[in-house]
Amino acid sequence: MEQYAIKGGIHLEGEVVIGGAKNAALGILAAAIMTEDECTIENVPYVSDTITLLKAIENIGASVKYIDRHTVVICGKGIRGDEGLSVDDEFIRKIRASYYLIGALLGRFKYADVALPGGCDIGARPIDLHIKGFNKLGATTEIVAGGKIVAKAEKLSGAHIYLDTVSVGATINIMLAAALSEGKTTIENAAKEPHIVDVANFLNTMGANIKGAGTDVIRVRGVERLHGAEYSIIPDQIEAGTFMAMAVATRGNVLIKNVIPKHLEAISSKLIEMGANVIEYDDSVRVMADGELKATQIKTLPYPGFPTDMQAQMATVLGIATGTSLVTESIFENRFRYVSELARMGAKIRVENNTAIISGVSKYTGARITTSDLRAGAALVIAALAAEGYSTIDEIQYIKRGYEDFDAKVRMLGGHMQIIDSDRDMQKFKLRVG
Ligand code: UD1
Repeated sequence: MEQYAIKGGIHLEGEVVIGGAKNAALGILAAAIMTEDECTIENVPYVSDTITLLKAIENIGASVKYIDRHTVVICGKGIRGDEGLSVDDEFIRKIRASYYLIGALLGRFKYADVALPGGCDIGARPIDLHIKGFNKLGATTEIVAGGKIVAKAEKLSGAHIYLDTVSVGATINIMLAAALSEGKTTIENAAKEPHIVDVANFLNTMGANIKGAGTDVIRVRGVERLHGAEYSIIPDQIEAGTFMAMAVATRGNVLIKNVIPKHLEAISSKLIEMGANVIEYDDSVRVMADGELKATQIKTLPYPGFPTDMQAQMATVLGIATGTSLVTESIFENRFRYVSELARMGAKIRVENNTAIISGVSKYTGARITTSDLRAGAALVIAALAAEGYSTIDEIQYIKRGYEDFDAKVRMLGGHMQIIDSDRDMQKFKLRVG
């Protein structure tokens, strides 16, 4: 089984280029099958979540061609939308974003039969709001044997939909179906994340009529058909934030390129409170830290609040800051499972309800650790890079869902991190890095 081998203690320095946003890509790739025409999508991150979704799309009859590693041409012409088309394969159940195929297929064919989503185990993660939205648009939905959802409608009609909880997934999914509904849909209390705006922009490039994405009221005027489009996905806010946290944890100096600094403001301001220096340029940020880091308080909230997908990485940095920090998770209820692994590296963190109380220690010590979800895995990589000595991280398939060439990017910054597959590889790694 592959692992990351890491030797910590290096101040990371240099430049890293951030890829396209995974969570935007998942919505956009699903949207691309809503037309019979070809869509060319650029800046698609080559990570297992997007690769898996593309395989599922191919399995239902679309053609999917990679022009290069990050550009993919999708043509949904070959998808037969009749009843009997079921999206279910060994891959699709593993990714949460399979739910976007419900909205996309329902919009185009008024019929969708999709295996229920998997994804990282970070809490209950229901899809009741997605279903409520589809029902309001006039679809019936049924959970059928085998863990699948079937949604169908004679026709979809615009509706007024209020989301009881701000949900990224439900907002995008309802936008997808509403784009090809008859009449006007209003989504209230919509999520405002940058990837919502990106998916809406892509749909509009395909001929949809969506206004207000990025605010909490999105208005969709349904159109009869969507057409092909060319589109380039925005940079990944969370990959960028992860490298920012890594630069600070290792007391490094890293220029993080191909980012939208506005999307990073919540992360930048917390790092600055901790004593780091963050300089914003047009499409890059430089993050520097040396000396002591200070404790602070963080609470995760929907955008523009502090992103839950950065919670574990920041808590890891706070674990080696001076003083007591509080990190409150208000989006998902089970997102502190990495704390027990960090404790094995010397962290002193107590979790009470949805708050982690972190008493900073002076350093982490390398250990054999394992991850159970994507962002927690990224946090453990940060801890290992800041730690004294060697670490190995198990279950790295979770991390590969969302970080492309993670180890290579860290090596470009001078860090010691490599994928190994045996004890022998580990010995070689140790010999090489000394
Ligand atoms: C998306 C992101 C994920 C990120 C999360 C919050 C993708 C593929 N994943 O996940 O990386 O951590 O946004 O920014 O884009 N909820 C309900 N009912 C629903 C849907 C959600 O109660 O039908 C609740 C969830 O349990 C959670 C909250 O709403 O407490 C937010 O979840 P949501 O924004 O939907 O997260 P995801 O779309 O699953």
